[in-house]
Amino acid sequence: MRSALAAGNHTMLPETRTDRRPNLVLIGFMGTGKSTIGRLCARRLDMEFRDSDALIEQRTNLSIPQIFAEKGEPWFRRIERIIIQELAAHRGLVIATGGGVPLDSDNVELLRASGLLVLLTAHPDVILERVGPVHRRPLLAQGADPKERIRALLEEREAAYRKAAHCVVDTSHSSPEESAEKVVLLYKVTQGG
Ligand code: S3P
Repeated sequence: MRSALAAGNHTMLPETRTDRRPNLVLIGFMGTGKSTIGRLCARRLDMEFRDSDALIEQRTNLSIPQIFAEKGEPWFRRIERIIIQELAAHRGLVIATGGGVPLDSDNVELLRASGLLVLLTAHPDVILERVGPVHRRPLLAQGADPKERIRALLEEREAAYRKAAHCVVDTSHSSPEESAEKVVLLYKVTQGG
């Protein structure tokens, strides 16, 4: 299942790693803390951390805004699916996914077969505060009012996010450390640990 994009030297994991624990997959909207909390969870669980957006940028040698501007969203989504297929083939990973990943049913099926999907949520005001300059977030830069755009996208995606997730952690009023603790606990409980 390797695509032309997947050059041979892009190994996802060191060959020697034999962690067979289910993946811990963080899904949810931009600004809910997936990458920050994911890194903290990986450290606490002694698991490898992967970020699907970072892998897309690495694989294409383009930034996410560049991809949207130069190649378009459908191209981005194709690469995203390839990266998700590859990640879901591994175990023992904490994976922070891009906000659009759960909108694709194949992505969801593969990820759910690979481990636990935790949906991170946050209030739209908190999201707006956290996301920073919208030019880094091409989907929020569309339209005049980023807050309205956040609300509209959240409403559009809510059902898909909830359907994909095994459990939900709201990060609006917690520090990344506090949220990571909750996520780690959920992971341990579902693993019977
Ligand atoms: C997207 C979210 C972004 C990135 C891209 C599209 C989305 O990731 O994948 O800009 O569709 O919500 P983050 O959720 O990590 O910001």
